[in-house]
Amino acid sequence: MATSWMDSPEGYGRVSRAFHWGMAILFAWQFAGAILFVSIGDSALTRFVGGTHFDMGFTLFVLVLLRGGWGLLNMGHRPPHQGTAGKAAVAGHLLLYGMMIFIPGIALLRQYGTGDAFSPWGIPLMPHRGTKIEWMMAPANLLHYWLGFALLAVVVGHSAMVLLHRVLWREDVISRMTRGRDAPDAVQRPAALR
Ligand code: HEM
Ligand code: HEM
Repeated sequence: MATSWMDSPEGYGRVSRAFHWGMAILFAWQFAGAILFVSIGDSALTRFVGGTHFDMGFTLFVLVLLRGGWGLLNMGHRPPHQGTAGKAAVAGHLLLYGMMIFIPGIALLRQYGTGDAFSPWGIPLMPHRGTKIEWMMAPANLLHYWLGFALLAVVVGHSAMVLLHRVLWREDVISRMTRGRDAPDAVQRPAALR
């Protein structure tokens, strides 16, 4: 079956896969910067990786909105998630979306609240105002740090589930997101025929 741009019940299409893996790489960079910051602290490497935190966070925010829109367009024909485990998978994906929107969302609100100019990648998004708006800064001051690391934990759990599917239930879920189609028999199939 040729892979297509749109999603299908057999697997995710080219656009969804590009969003998924492209954003996974950008998230890896974002988390690497955060981990360097809290582990080795200020260093040339931390500044190199973590120096893009605001711009990259803004980019991830824009991308998740586009990805969510694309997901809604494809909702009726995405790979089905049936039964209790399927419901849990959908809940997990929704949690990921919620966190991917909320975490940079409150950070951008805080950024606006500081009254400082903000120009991600040189795009003049927020002008300098010079006065602080406390209520806009409060949610991120309270939650951004912890939810940021909680997202990392959820992502680790998400990847672990993909592995568990293969090891425990012999389901090759990853094919839906790599080749764009299901390969339920891939584990059983002799290596020579793979
Ligand atoms: C999905 C996107 C984002 C993720 C996963 C994320 C994650 C994190 C994490 C884990 C930390 C704590 C470690 C550290 O201090 O480096 C952090 C801190 C911080 N982030 Fe983000 N961030 C994102 C987007 C943003 C955006 C868009 C901004 C600003 C426009 C921002 C501003 C900050 C600031 C100012 C801190 C230090 C203060 C604090 O911990 O609240 N972040 N972020
Ligand atoms: C090594 C890392 C990763 C692996 C192996 C992986 C694997 C997969 C697979 C196989 C699916 C399809 C699951 C299904 O249809 O039941 C999926 C879907 C999904 N993944 Fe990941 N993933 C990884 C990283 C990430 C990251 C970093 C995020 C976001 C922070 C993420 C968010 C999602 C979401 C939201 C879905 C639902 C489909 C969509 O709307 O794109 N994944 N992942």
